[in-house]
Amino acid sequence: MRQWIDKLREERTLRPEEFRQLLTECDGESLRYINKQAQEVSLRHFGNRIFIRGLIEVSNCCRNNCYYCGIRKGNPNLERYRLSTENILNCCKQGYGLGFRTFVLQGGEDPALTEERIEDIVSTIRRSYPDCAITLSLGEKSREAYERFFQAGANRYLLTYDKEHYQQLHPAGMSCEHRLQCLRDLKDIGYQTGTGIMVGSPGQTIEHLIQDILFIEQLRPEMIGIGPFLPHRDTPFAQSPSGTVERTLLLLSIFRLMHPSALIPATTALATLTPDGREQGILAGANVVMPNLSPQEERKKYNLYNNKASLGAESAEGLNILQQQLEKIGYQIS
Ligand code: 5AD
Repeated sequence: MRQWIDKLREERTLRPEEFRQLLTECDGESLRYINKQAQEVSLRHFGNRIFIRGLIEVSNCCRNNCYYCGIRKGNPNLERYRLSTENILNCCKQGYGLGFRTFVLQGGEDPALTEERIEDIVSTIRRSYPDCAITLSLGEKSREAYERFFQAGANRYLLTYDKEHYQQLHPAGMSCEHRLQCLRDLKDIGYQTGTGIMVGSPGQTIEHLIQDILFIEQLRPEMIGIGPFLPHRDTPFAQSPSGTVERTLLLLSIFRLMHPSALIPATTALATLTPDGREQGILAGANVVMPNLSPQEERKKYNLYNNKASLGAESAEGLNILQQQLEKIGYQIS
């Protein structure tokens, strides 16, 4: 196993059958080894500094019905909300005061969040915070829409893509080709682009993971988000088991070894799956955390999966807790 891990660090890629072995035969000892290698690569590129991004969940309304997601259109047991522009700006203000210099606006594909509204929100934040980066995570839009948001001042866009078993995660009507086109458009327009996968989602096989790894290798995104699948009680996948910590940490390390300078978060999903998930993610090569800056009353409504963490070190107000946790493992907030 070590030979593949050393080769991956050296050459930044493997042959499909070598990835297959790594994914199927990685025992506890090999996992610790690859995590260590990935942490070293991350330390070499970024030092012991962890970037923080303030996550603002702008709307939990969504026109889509993705099988895994708690804010899917078909979930009637959810109180829907949409933040006003003023509300979003208040989040930014609070975040700026706490030291955040990147705001991530994330939401469902909410038809009421029109291109005009998004453009207006982005340009208002851009005017108020010229020294901040604006990241959008608002799903699939037209190229023209992405261009408008970019012109208005957005810098980055996150769009995860479980390419290989897309059909098993999304109902008919959503197209894997369109999502791919979105990623191409985003890169082409000049966004720093993020993608990623859910680990252990229902139906995901080793072959899917290998193809996803190779796809992301081709795409060369600036950001790569790797989190475990977690079930949500009001979805068709309610009874499906979560992804595992081990598999998530293995993939995180694989992506770090393949993409030494990528921004890779220790995801909220990983921190939800296990109490020290954030730290484990960092020790496996992650270099970003995204504390929640959404208004307190709305946080529990942005319920992508059961028990989603949004308090303590997952919250912007809990930055001191995060700081202490990071110090314990030898890291600091950048
Ligand atoms: N489990 C894990 N991650 C999920 N996401 C949505 N639903 C789930 C789930 N059930 C992820 C999306 C997106 C991020 C905001 O949350 O894939 O990347």
